[in-house]
Amino acid sequence: MLIKSRSTHDCLESEVTDHSLYLQRRRFMEVSARGLGLAAIAPSLLLSACSDAATDDGRDQASSQPAQAADELTPYKDVTSYNNFYEFGLGKSDPAKYAADFKVKPWSVKVEGAVEKAGTFDLEDLLKGVQQEERIYRLRCVEAWSMVIPWYGFALSDLINKLKPTSAAKYVQFETLYDPAQMPGQKGRALDWPYVEGLRLDEAMHPLAFMATGLYGKDLLGQNGAPFRLVVPWKYGFKSIKSIVVIRFTETEPATSWNLANPREYGFYANVNPKVNHPRWSQRKERRIGEFRKRPTLAFNGYGDQVAGLYQGMDLKRYF
Ligand code: MTE
Repeated sequence: MLIKSRSTHDCLESEVTDHSLYLQRRRFMEVSARGLGLAAIAPSLLLSACSDAATDDGRDQASSQPAQAADELTPYKDVTSYNNFYEFGLGKSDPAKYAADFKVKPWSVKVEGAVEKAGTFDLEDLLKGVQQEERIYRLRCVEAWSMVIPWYGFALSDLINKLKPTSAAKYVQFETLYDPAQMPGQKGRALDWPYVEGLRLDEAMHPLAFMATGLYGKDLLGQNGAPFRLVVPWKYGFKSIKSIVVIRFTETEPATSWNLANPREYGFYANVNPKVNHPRWSQRKERRIGEFRKRPTLAFNGYGDQVAGLYQGMDLKRYF
C-alpha cells in the first residue's frame, strides 16, 4: 500500500478477459447466486446502483444513472497471483511466490481478553459446528483496485457467538502469524509485526462480516491468507487480515497495523468512501482487475443499504 497503483491507462495482458472464461464466470455466478439463496445479499452483488458515482472530474452524477453491468468474477489466476500480503513481500506477485510452501497444518488460534471461551484451540476444533457456505463479495483495496471473489467460509458472528464475549467486550482484534522463517517479509520493517486489525464488536457481528477458509471452491492458498482470514466487504481490503492466530476481545479500540504505520492515511474505520480521498490519491474510482476502464467506487463498496446504519451519527470524514 505504500506503493502508488498504476496509471489509468496501464493494462496487463492477464487483465483482458477471454470470452470463454467470461461465459464460464457468468455461469458460475448464476449457479453460486442460486446456491446461496441469500436474498438479502444477492441483489446488491449483481447490480451496482450508481447513486453515489463520480465523473472523471470528480463531480457527482445524477442518481438516475443506469445500473452498472452485473459483477463478473475475477479470474482465479488473478485472485491468487495479484495480492497484498506484506509478510511475503511488497510486490503483488511476491505472496504467490514466497507463500508456496507456507505450512498451515496444524494451526493454533489463541482466543483471549474479554471472552468466556478463552484458550488455545486447533483451528479444526475451533470451527467444529460452524456452518460453512459460499458468498460472492467484492474486495476493494485502498490502492483503488478491486476484485469479485467467490469466497467460502462462515459468518464471523457464528464464531463470536460460540466464543461468548463478556459484556466488557466492545471490540475484537485479530493478529496474523509472526514467523519470519516462513514469512520473509517479516525480516524487513515495512510494518510493525505481527500485522493486527480490529473491528467494533457490532461491526464484527454484522451478517456480512465473514471469515474465509477458501475461494473458488478450494482451500485458501497462502497468498490469500490460509488457513483463514477476515473478509469485511464494505471496508478497504487492509481490514481483511490474513492467516489469523489470535482473536482478542477488548474494551477499548485496538491498535491496527496500517493506522500505526501511518495514521494520517489509514484510519481505524476504513469504510470504503469515494468522498474521502487518500491523502495521495483519489478514491472516487477503481480499476476492477480484469477490466480496462475504471468504474466509480460506491459508498461502503456498494453494501451501504446493509451497513450504513452502523455509522449513524458519525462524521465519516473524521472517522475514516
Ligand atoms: N493481512 C496481512 N496479514 N498482511 C497484509 O499485508 N494486506 C491487506 C489484506 N490483509 C495484508 C493483509 C490488504 S492491503 C489487502 S488489499 C488485502 O489483504 C488483499 O487480499 P488479497 O490478496 O486476498 O486480495
